[in-house]
Amino acid sequence: MTTPTASRGAFASRLGFILAAAGSAIGLGNIWRFPYTAGANGGGAFVLVYVLFVLGIGVPVLLAELAMGRAAQRNPVGAFRILSGSRSWSLVGGLGVVTGFGILAFYSVVAGWTLGYLWKALTGDFERRITADESSRIFSELIGTAGPAIGLTALFLIVTVLVVRGGVQAGIERASKILMPMFFLLLLVLAARSLTLSGADEGVAFLLQADFGKLTPRVILGALGQALFSLSLGMGAMITYGSYLGKSENLAFAGATVAVFDTAIALLSGLIVFPALFSSGLDPAAGPGLVFVVLPTIFDAMPAGSFFAVAFYALLAIAALTSAMSLLEVVVAYFVDEWGWARRWAVWAIGAVTFVLAIPSALSTGASPFLSTMLGDRGGFLDLQNILFGNFALSIGALFTLLFVGWRWSVARALEEMHASGDRLPAPRLWGVLVRYVCPVAVLLVLGFMLVTGEFF
Ligand code: TRP
Repeated sequence: MTTPTASRGAFASRLGFILAAAGSAIGLGNIWRFPYTAGANGGGAFVLVYVLFVLGIGVPVLLAELAMGRAAQRNPVGAFRILSGSRSWSLVGGLGVVTGFGILAFYSVVAGWTLGYLWKALTGDFERRITADESSRIFSELIGTAGPAIGLTALFLIVTVLVVRGGVQAGIERASKILMPMFFLLLLVLAARSLTLSGADEGVAFLLQADFGKLTPRVILGALGQALFSLSLGMGAMITYGSYLGKSENLAFAGATVAVFDTAIALLSGLIVFPALFSSGLDPAAGPGLVFVVLPTIFDAMPAGSFFAVAFYALLAIAALTSAMSLLEVVVAYFVDEWGWARRWAVWAIGAVTFVLAIPSALSTGASPFLSTMLGDRGGFLDLQNILFGNFALSIGALFTLLFVGWRWSVARALEEMHASGDRLPAPRLWGVLVRYVCPVAVLLVLGFMLVTGEFF
């Protein structure tokens, strides 16, 4: 075959693509970032706004990115340039590449914690009753010691590089196929355990009862950032994945499936974390350690707990890996497509730079007092990276993607691309209105409010 798709690598099957895209979306964003952000932002109202943003902004942007990627058959920088015919638009893709580095740099630190916990689970650390205090101490010890924090980050990055080096098909597709459904089943089991603990109702109420008094601009930006982060939007990951997709695939169906599973898994994670958290008297606003501190307190309270612990951290590490692969893939596709780098070298070079960028984050959870307290009660360097790239950069990237598809490339061409498979988008007009008017205005308002109130972190 000589189509550009074939020569750049492509997904072998529709299911393969959906699972790979879902693999990108489902990761630490759902299990780690969602509960911690929901907890820090007061619960129910945040969750409601997050779900609204997923439906009203996330899904339209997801379709826009997939359509752009498949039409252009390029990395984000190339896609913006080719579809616009101008160099200035490729800056949006450039922002995406920078954001890819920025997110991967802290993502791999948290993924490293997962590997550390996998080790602890394997060596039987969670086989006894662990109190909330003890659990906090175990966590602080792991992440607050420079050696393990940096070493585990490096380990995770090396594994990611090795997988991405293998190319699109072999690496990404095979890994996602069996493991994601297994992860989903395991989460159901954990939710069932957590929901039957004494005092679980309080956790459910925290997650689902909205107190609108808690909605500040910062909370709303947090919800927008979380919706984009969780669906892997706003930096071109889905443009890149879309570029590996054949013309016969139904983009709308793929997009909707990914959004539904991703959101279901985030909510499920909330239903695991918050009941257990209230049951053991922990603070929902405890910060980035939330899920790591809460879960060990319930493993021993279930039959075959140590088996579940090992399975959970192993699958979480793999979910993080399939997400990190998509982050790295964006940057790699850019250097391979635009600069002609050989893939096998590009992955190592980019992995090495990411590692250097990750070191301050790895040291900012206890090892370095300065880096750990930079934002005062909002945390340290890792939190700064998370907010800067995960909330701001993704929102700005999504805004420009919307403006580009709505006003420059054109809704008509995007729809043509989505209809190329012979399937029709259920509500094409509505999508056009969302992409041109509603979503950009909503994102602008959220960002504008932040600027006006100065409530950044
Ligand atoms: N969505 C992933 C998660 O929830 C993280 C991720 C992968 C991502 N690729 C991305 C986030 C691109 C933003 C942009 O864990």
